[in-house]
Order: sequence, then structure tokens, then C-alpha cells
Amino acid sequence: MNQRLKILLLFGGTAIIGLFFLNDGNAQNIRAAVSAERTKENFDFNWQFHKGDIAIKHVVQAGGQGGLTDADVKVIKTRDTVIDYTDVKSAGVFYPSDWKEVSIPHDWAIEGAFVHDNSLGSQPAVSGYLPTGVGFYRKEFEIPETDKGRKISIEFEGIFRNSTVWVNGHLMGNHQSGYTPANYDLTDVLRYGNEGKNVILVKVDAREYEGWWYEGAGIYRHVWIVKTDKLHVDRFGTYITTPFVSSEEATINIRTTVKNENKTPKEVKLISKIVDNKGNLLDTETSSQTIEPFSKIEISQEGKIQKPMLWSPETPTLYKILTEVADNGNIVDTYVTNFGVRTIEFNRNGFFLNGKLYPVKGTANHEDFAGVGVALPDKINDYKIKLLKQIGCNGYRCAHNPPSPELLDICDSLGMLVLDENRHLSSSGENLKDLTTMLYRDRNHPSIFIWSMENEEWLEGTVTGKRILETMVETTHQIDPTRPVTAAMNHGRNESGYSDVLDVVGYNYGDKGMAYVKDHEQYPDRIVFSTESTSFVSTRGEYENNREKGYVSNMSKWEPNWGPFPGEDWADIVKYPFLGGTFVWSGFDYRGEPTPYQWPCVSSHFGIMDICGFPKDGYYAYKAAWTNMPVVHIFPHWNWPGKEGDSINVHCYTNCEEVELFLNGKSIGRKKAVPNTKLIWGLIYKPGKLEARGYKAGKLVTKDIVETTTQPAQISLNSDVYQLKADGCDVAVIRVALKDAKGRMVPIADDLVTFSIEGPGKIIGTGNGNPSSHEPDKASQRKAFNGYCLVLVQSDKRAGEIRLKAFSKTLKENELIIKVQ
Ligand code: GAL
Repeated sequence: MNQRLKILLLFGGTAIIGLFFLNDGNAQNIRAAVSAERTKENFDFNWQFHKGDIAIKHVVQAGGQGGLTDADVKVIKTRDTVIDYTDVKSAGVFYPSDWKEVSIPHDWAIEGAFVHDNSLGSQPAVSGYLPTGVGFYRKEFEIPETDKGRKISIEFEGIFRNSTVWVNGHLMGNHQSGYTPANYDLTDVLRYGNEGKNVILVKVDAREYEGWWYEGAGIYRHVWIVKTDKLHVDRFGTYITTPFVSSEEATINIRTTVKNENKTPKEVKLISKIVDNKGNLLDTETSSQTIEPFSKIEISQEGKIQKPMLWSPETPTLYKILTEVADNGNIVDTYVTNFGVRTIEFNRNGFFLNGKLYPVKGTANHEDFAGVGVALPDKINDYKIKLLKQIGCNGYRCAHNPPSPELLDICDSLGMLVLDENRHLSSSGENLKDLTTMLYRDRNHPSIFIWSMENEEWLEGTVTGKRILETMVETTHQIDPTRPVTAAMNHGRNESGYSDVLDVVGYNYGDKGMAYVKDHEQYPDRIVFSTESTSFVSTRGEYENNREKGYVSNMSKWEPNWGPFPGEDWADIVKYPFLGGTFVWSGFDYRGEPTPYQWPCVSSHFGIMDICGFPKDGYYAYKAAWTNMPVVHIFPHWNWPGKEGDSINVHCYTNCEEVELFLNGKSIGRKKAVPNTKLIWGLIYKPGKLEARGYKAGKLVTKDIVETTTQPAQISLNSDVYQLKADGCDVAVIRVALKDAKGRMVPIADDLVTFSIEGPGKIIGTGNGNPSSHEPDKASQRKAFNGYCLVLVQSDKRAGEIRLKAFSKTLKENELIIKVQ
């Protein structure tokens, strides 16, 4: 496998219905297909949630008759409380008093209080001291009579974790993984029309963990009800590849799995239409085949795109395959697959995208965010990816588990290469199922350029580990031969031939002893990649280590000792392009894994941005390395009352050739910059104005100014958008800054800000980036931390104007208006 790999690909995302993107003459032709019956209905709203366990005998009654729909059950005992089922609204439906209304995505752990108690089981520190436990979700819903005869399934994109599902008292199944989707066929157990209401009950047991970071608890990704004809495209049933790509033409290989769930054989006609991003029909392929009852077949077709527009992070052009399944001349199913046309190649010289050396400027990330835990509205993922793109980042590593499908759609459409990672090193039946689900679900996304089997698992470098890895790699090659397989290993693991099993050997912290460079020389066939680097801990806006508060300075290196300063890792990629690129640990801070201190610290602070997405100083090191924009960024802030006359160092990240620093108009000296290295000046502190001027070829190209401010006097509100969709999902990310009378952000301000909201929206969370904050995220107030805090506002389904006001005791209040349409 370690030979030169030449991989030509193209890919797509979630199947959706609706051809709204069609907008030209060809639309007529294609629109005819819309009469087909597949629907994918959002099932996120109107759930009820109960925190705590319910004795299992009351949940599942013999013969699948009972559960929470059994009219005999009036009182259900939980482990520590009694839920009173007094209000029986109709036969078989119960409204216990402590169920509360929730919408999905939902994470109940983030709603809880921090508990410093190591006896709680799980891993309190690494999961952020937020208790998890057991919870139940239930929802009543109706299925119309007209749906009789269709296939109806439910897709849970992610439940953390160990979930069990009952529908109308019938046990549908159990799904362990918190990171792969669960799907149940509900067709037989549903009640249609006047047969009555349906009740779904989901037990979630989040007591066990899967990783060493905050993983949340609950149904934290979307839920869908999918309805199709009995003759239909199978779940994850298309696979689009590009065996040949040139600037003139691309060959599109379309493999479609069609399932016949009728009692009779079906003569199926499969029509695959290639459509460009403007809705133009480019090619149509038609095939006919017989499918036996209760079986499925894969049909292979080949189409062409002339002068294809190649997908890349800079040009994320997407195409679509519109699949139509016809039975006896009627189109009974349509299915849409997004894909892109691009080539990838890994070889001993590095990573090549569309034939050009393309160093991956990546960050590794866990899923959570301020205010919402792991239950991210899609908009927050969009916000995060856009923040990363602003510093020239072109790669995202899903650490250490498959992400939500929406995140992948966003990476496809905004342009971000993705390393998609399987959770465990294991070839058990359960784990191989998770691995294959990830592969089938994700293999059409053009953004994914490599699969990772594992990250730093304990069997790395062992004989058993090698056997397991081999099975996983071969399984992956079978399902997707178009992408290479890696594993993110502690400094690469050569022992027992472990890394020889891989197509690309992933090095975490390969700069240690220059392992990746030495191995490149020692193993002539080996293709390497720097799967993880940096791990620089810093608390936004802090310039001294403070063990008591759990803060770490941005100026110096403390712990851990395995990573370099921000930006220095990039120097290796520039010097040794064969490394292919890197993934900085991490793009954003995340809850859990507090390092180097534990309590009171509850979050990690490895991010180049904090958990709210506010940049830290290290962010500018990467902006300097990864973009052509002139960057000069000086720190620390210049508010040091009481330190007048003390020595203080001023640090600077820059990509300019020279930088001159001034204090109160007086030059402190002009320095030549070494790429990817900090500049440092020693000064005597005097309040006032620091100014750093950046020069290229002797010309002033940019500057940065840091001033001593006065007391905070006003609240500034800045939203990423001023218009939201009235869909109950859209979110405005509102950055709150505390400023002095002259409008300068006060870098040490920590006033409490209270929010009020009117109109068609609600506050779904707050944050401030303080890794030791024990304030609740689910609140309408937040203390600022070093000048900033954040509030997230979600629209509901009404149109109108949201008015968000922000108050603080001694500061001038402010408000902003967001239109909802
Ligand atoms: C890496 C590991 C990450 C995180 C990081 C902290 O070795 O892959 O999950 O723990 O260390 O530095």
C-alpha cells in the first residue's frame, strides 16, 4: 500500500428532496421528477424530555404492548424520584409532570451545573465536570392514512450515547455509538390515520464515555423521518466517483443501490441526471433491470462532464446527481447527491490537489461550542468554518469521531478539506459497523480527502493493534478505494509493522525528535502526513500563568511540553513539503480535557480561538503563515495599572519583513522578522499607545495599535447577521464587547451583562471564553471575560423583529434589531 497512490475522486453529500436549484430551460425536463414521493421531514420539534432513569419494567411491557403508552401505568418509579402520571389525556397517552418541552439538537449536560466530585463515575475532569447520566425523550406524532403502503424510517444523526428506541411500545433497537447515526424502519409499527397517535420513546444512557473530552448527553444531532415508495434508492445508496478527470472532460461513475420492498419483482428504470451548480442538465444515463422481491441491486452507470469545474477550498464548485427510480413508467423515487470533481494524490513529495502541491493548513476540532454544548445548530458549524477560513485555514480534522453530516455539507460548499476520523481502533462487529456507516454515509463528500482509522489508541504499535488495523484498512479500501487511509499516531508507530498497514502514516507531534523527517529518510516507500501539531495552551487575553484561576499565559510555553509555539509547526511544513500539511491542535477551545490545570478549569485552552470563536494571539500566527494578507499583531494588552516602570516584553506575530515598534510615538526599534517566529521587544511599561508598523520591501503595509484604555463605559453589540430565517433553527452569533468612553475594547473588563429579548426569537446560550467559568451557558446573562462575551439568538417560526437589549450596572446599555423572515 505504500506505493505511489494516485487517487482521482469526486463526491457528494446528504440526499435531499426538492429541485429549487433548477433555474433555467432544462428545469422543465427535470422538474417532472418532483412528483415522486420521497420526503425527508425534519423531526426536531415538540419533543419532551425527562432527566433521570425510569425503571425498565415500566418502559417495556411484555409483548411490546406497553411502555409509556400502557394505560395501566399511573406511577412510574425512577431511581430516585417518582414521576406521577396523573393527567391521562387519552387512552395510551401520558403527560407526566416533569417532562419538559425540548427541540433537537439537545444536550442536557450543558444545562446542568458543574460538579467537582471525582466519585461521580465517568471522568469528571476530561468531560468538563458536567454530569451526564440517563435521560428519556418522548414525542407524539401523527402519520396520515395516505402514508399507508410507503416505507417510513427514522434517522437519528447522533445520540450521545447508548440509545434505545421504542415506538408505540415496540422495541426498535439499541445503538451504542454516540457518533454514528441510528436508523429504524417504522413502517409496520406505526399507527396510520384514525388508528391513533404514535408515541416514540428514546432512552439515552450517557454515563459511559467514548473519548477524553466533553461529549455531551442526549439527542444532539438532527432527527429525520424519511418516507419513500417500496421501490427506492437505499439508505446512503449512491456512490459517485470520477475515475478520469482532465481539464477537458471528467468521467462520472454512478453506482446506485435500489431496493425493492414489494412482494413482487420490479422492472426498474434508473435515470441519473448530472446537473451543474446553476441547474443545467449536463448528462442523463438510463438503465433498466429487474429486482426480486425484498432484495436490492447495485446499478452502475457512467456519465460525462465537459470542461469540469474542479472542486477545491478556493473554488468549492458542486455538481449534483439527480436520481429517478421509475416503476412501470411512473417515477416513484427521486434522490439528490451532491458531489465535486477533483483529484487527490498523496506521494513521497506531499499532498496534491488537482495536480498541484497543496499543503493542508488545518486545525483539529472537537464539536462543542459556547452556549450549546455539542447540540450545534447548523448555523454555528457554518460560523465556525467561516472563522477558520478567514485565517486561510483549508483543512478540518474531525477529532476524534465522525462529524454531523451537516458539517460535511458546509465544508463541501464553503470549501474546506476534511479528515474524517473513525472513533475506535477495533475490528469488533459493533465497531466495524460504525466504521462502515461512516464510510457509506460520507464517501460522496468532495471535502473529505482522507480517512483516519484512529487517534493515539493504546494498541498502536502492537501486534494485535496491527491485525485490527489491517482489517479496518481493508474494510475501508473495499467501501471507498478512492481515498487513502491514515491513523493519527503518537509520533508515527513503526513497532510491530503497525504503520506499514496504512496508505499514509499519520504523525501526531512528529516534530519531536523530527520523527517524521527521520522516518521519511529511513523508509523509502513511506508517505507521511503531520496529522496533529502545536497543542499550545493559552487563555484568551491572559499574560500570566495563574494556577488558582486556571489561566495560562499567551506569552510563554508552560505545559504540555509536546508542542511548539503557534506558527512554528508551519515552518516544518514549509521546509519539508512532503509532510503534506498539518492539523493544529486545536482550532477552538473545547470543554473538558482541562490542561495543564484541572478544577476550577473546566475547559481546554488549546484553541487558537476560544470556545466562543474569539481569537487568541496565536490565531494571528496562523493568519500570518496561511494568508497573503499583511499581518502585524502585538500583545499583551497595555492596561497594567501599578506596573509603571516595570520591564515588560512585547511580542509580535507577523508575516512582514520588518516591524518597528513605537511607544507613545517613540521608536523602540525596528526588527527583521524570521517567518513563523515571534518578534520580541523588551520595554519599560508606561501607559499610552503601542504601535507596530509592518514593512515589506521597505514599504509600510500594515500596523497594529494597542492602547491603554480607561474604565469600561459602554456595551457594544455586533451580530454576524442582521436577518434570520423564520425556521426555528437559524441563529445570530452576537459578539458583546465592553468599551471605554472612546470606544476602545477594555481588555480586562469583566462586568456582568444581562440580556433581554423581544420578538420572534430566544436566547439559546451564552459564553465568554473563560475556561474556568462556572456560570451556566443556558442563561440570559454572562460576565464578560477580558472584554468579551457572546450571546446566541435563535429565530422561531414567526416573521418579525427580534430586539436584543444588553444592560450592565454601570455601563451604557445597547440594543440591536434582527429581522426574521
Ligand atoms: C493529542 C490528542 C488530542 C489531545 C491533545 C492535547 O495527543 O490526540 O486528543 O489530547 O493531545 O495536547
